[in-house]
Amino acid sequence: MTVTSGFPGDFLYGFATAAAQIEGGGEEAEKASGRGRSIWDTFCEKPGAIVDGTHVNRTCNHLALYKEDIALMRSLGANAYRFSISWPRLIPLGGREDPINQKGVVFYNDLIDECLKNGLTPFACISWDLPQALFDRYGGWLDQDSIVPDFTRYARFCYETFGDRVKHWLTFNEPWCVAVLGHGQGAFAPGHKSNIEPWIVAHSVLIAHAHAAKLYINHFKPTQGGSIGITLNGDWAEPFDDTPENIKAAQRKMDFAVGWFADPIYLGRYPQSMIDILGDRLPKFTVEELAVLKDSSEFYGCNTYTTNTIKATRSDDEFAGFTTMAFDRPDGSVIGPRSALGWLRDVPWGLRKLLNYLAARYQKPIYMTENGWCIGGEGSLRVQDATDDDGRVQFYQGYTQSLKEAVEIDRLDIRSYFGWSFIDNFEWASGLGPRFGSVHCNYETFERTPKDSAYFLMDFFKKNVARS
Ligand code: NOJ
Repeated sequence: MTVTSGFPGDFLYGFATAAAQIEGGGEEAEKASGRGRSIWDTFCEKPGAIVDGTHVNRTCNHLALYKEDIALMRSLGANAYRFSISWPRLIPLGGREDPINQKGVVFYNDLIDECLKNGLTPFACISWDLPQALFDRYGGWLDQDSIVPDFTRYARFCYETFGDRVKHWLTFNEPWCVAVLGHGQGAFAPGHKSNIEPWIVAHSVLIAHAHAAKLYINHFKPTQGGSIGITLNGDWAEPFDDTPENIKAAQRKMDFAVGWFADPIYLGRYPQSMIDILGDRLPKFTVEELAVLKDSSEFYGCNTYTTNTIKATRSDDEFAGFTTMAFDRPDGSVIGPRSALGWLRDVPWGLRKLLNYLAARYQKPIYMTENGWCIGGEGSLRVQDATDDDGRVQFYQGYTQSLKEAVEIDRLDIRSYFGWSFIDNFEWASGLGPRFGSVHCNYETFERTPKDSAYFLMDFFKKNVARS
């Protein structure tokens, strides 16, 4: 009997990383590399900002070890690598008139060539780490008129320099985090606490995304032939029970997390619940802005990790649309085992619901760009114990099964899956403690050791993706 799998032969699978979280090999190496400072360098130097006092300039030394890393990905069986390009590594001061760092160009050229030599499709994201100089000059994302042309020039430089080989582009990764964690709750760089800034920042990120993406679609795609989109973070919001208030609250939570960015891009407006709650604090789109946003993402890039149960009981959490997010059920049970981080629980069925919701609402092909599990404290274990990452294997078993159902039963057009992450790395304000990698990193020696989940995940796709 021939078994036909629902994963098409061109399905991309592998691991995701981000420049700031893995590249650094120490202060000296970073200085020598010519990278400019980002707002994360400054944030790391603020006492108490990073839980364990670690710094983005010393993470996994991918800058020196990328060849080894790519060879390892290949040997595990991946067919793609999702990485990010650091804006301050390419343009240290960030601005449209500022000089290029040739060492940064050489690094990303080599990284991309190495991917291709090893049979990995490069999937590149051009955000997150904002050059500090742009923050000093005009407040970064707070000044839409200044940052849009700077970001667009940076994007243009990326397409011109790497677009002959990179055919999968992402403008932004998780703008919700930049807006809410960076400018609302103060937990991420630049550490602002405000209930006004997040809405302004998100608006300018949306417009910067749209200009950068349209530049690609109109001027580069016709000759380079790739595609471009945005990646949003969003976890499934399950109503606590089937009362109308809780069902409405769960929708409100989806609006504030996903719809905030996705509705303007794919549907041409902010969600009504946000307009109702935020009033004048939510910027309004001009006619020109709506025109550039329209069709500015050729697919939906999905980062997702967990599911919450949502209650309508009015909380103070404006960023969750005044809903209460929890993990409990009416019968007192919880919806899944917890990880080393409080916000992350293993709820595989939530993935299938989320994917169906996104496909129905936005009508775009979906690239799953991140999904993964955190185990803390592996650093204190002997490496051979850390590599028995059963909790992560269990997570990936459940989530890949749910993905398979979404593809094979629901017939959704899903085109990639990237586990977060390839290697343990700098988990932003949580530092180097929480480990998301399927490869263990010894932060003293930078030695890499694959964990069980790396083999599980890549074997799953090798078995389930049709051979092309
Ligand atoms: C999503 C972010 O893109 C990534 O930077 C982060 O490390 C993971 N979530 C885990 O929190």
